[in-house]
Amino acid sequence: VFLGVDVGTSGTKTLAMQEDGTILSSATVEYPLYSPHPGWSEQNPEDWWQATIKSIRKVLKAGKIKPADVKGIGLSGQMHGSVFLNKKHEVIRPALLWNDQRTAAECAEIEQRAGGRKKLIGMVANPALTGFTAPKILWLRNHEPKNFDKTVQVLLPKDYIRFRLTGEFATEVSDASGTLLLNVRQRKWSRPLLNKLELDESLLPAVHESEDVSGHLTEASASLLGLPSGVAVVGGGGDQAAGAIGNGIVKRGVISATMGTSGVVFAHSDEVQIDPEGRVHTFCHAVRDKWHVMGVVLSAGGSLQWYRNQLCEQQVAAARKQKVDPYQLITAQAAEAPAGSEGLFFLPYLTGERTPHADPFARAAWIGLSLRHGRSHLSRAVIEGATYAMRDSLEIIQELNIPVKEIRLSGGGARSPFWRQVQADTYGQKVVTINAEEGPAYGVALLAAAGTGAYKDVVEACTATIRVVESTSVNSKDKKVYNQAFPVYQKLYSSLKSDFQ
Ligand code: XUL
Repeated sequence: VFLGVDVGTSGTKTLAMQEDGTILSSATVEYPLYSPHPGWSEQNPEDWWQATIKSIRKVLKAGKIKPADVKGIGLSGQMHGSVFLNKKHEVIRPALLWNDQRTAAECAEIEQRAGGRKKLIGMVANPALTGFTAPKILWLRNHEPKNFDKTVQVLLPKDYIRFRLTGEFATEVSDASGTLLLNVRQRKWSRPLLNKLELDESLLPAVHESEDVSGHLTEASASLLGLPSGVAVVGGGGDQAAGAIGNGIVKRGVISATMGTSGVVFAHSDEVQIDPEGRVHTFCHAVRDKWHVMGVVLSAGGSLQWYRNQLCEQQVAAARKQKVDPYQLITAQAAEAPAGSEGLFFLPYLTGERTPHADPFARAAWIGLSLRHGRSHLSRAVIEGATYAMRDSLEIIQELNIPVKEIRLSGGGARSPFWRQVQADTYGQKVVTINAEEGPAYGVALLAAAGTGAYKDVVEACTATIRVVESTSVNSKDKKVYNQAFPVYQKLYSSLKSDFQ
């Protein structure tokens, strides 16, 4: 049995998986997120640790798992967050999270110290974004110098849990890529950038490949978890790379489009492929010596969620009466409008946008309303807008000459047949869904199985456990409509950009 632990933003999810991929049990334990100032986003690392203990104990109990049968643990988690430890290895202050926006000045400082954006991309494959870890470390130095002086180690969220489990300071390549301090090409910390930022490499943990064993449960942690000491803990992966492993995105040509609150288009790549404009992220993959390129849409499913919460009281009430999911009624209504929503567009930038605009000030809008438009158009336009945003990322990936042979859908946008069809027609090719729906925790359970010898490597683990179960082909009439509408959608952001500031 292998355990996958995903230290997420709303809670920690643990699952137990048999070697053949069968899931025995899973459990999620939630914790709060704090925003002490507008744009700040923080959590207490101790909450992650307590949730890890509780969720592992729950999973062992629910799955009636004998502790001695647990052969490996894989760790995943929200990326980019920063845990600052003092010399006693205690947490100094709450962790700054991936969605924290306080570091715009530090991003500019990093670019300037690096000698410009191009040089920075040359060193670490990516531009400085407010969510990444390096700007958070500089923020601590600039704004809380006393705390910075006390800091001897900076860890990513899941790697803090690794420290509590194994006593080791370690990370792995996929999550380390999102710090902005990793030489993504060589899969090791970038000395040149650390020097330019005047940061000591000793602040950072050892970097492993994702399926390598990074340490073993200590006696103290094992007794808290109800497991034998010495169980291997593998590197694991940042939640995006781990989720991709859980979707079987482990070879060239296979892409995933995950429509959760945020939307992610993720492509495996055999070589380092860097967008010179830095619109998509180029990170190490959790597959040994491979990379990935990904685009992140901040409010994809989140746009429909907002629409449901703010403007769909009737459907929500009707759904409650009929005991169905409100999204089912909203998508049924959306389906009454024709493809292209008769000229109505929705820009899904409710929380600014990462790919392709890297613009925290971008905002959402319906554009093109006329008397003819009704609720069905409004609903459909939201779904289409979120899907156009994903197509933006997909097109950049194609521009980098990464082939797109198969698109695997997951998240809420994969559950609705209507939204699957909109995706097939907008992306202009067949889309498929797979048997596994468990995301990052499943991906790192597979990494644990591979890393402890149940499989030759994680690619073999994926091939043995993941298969396509459903496929949606393109409706060529609607594809044509979307092909005509998409450039208009793209132009709308450029026209409005300066008014958002
Ligand atoms: C990835 C990203 C998010 C976080 C939180 O770049 O910012 O996916 O990992 O889930």
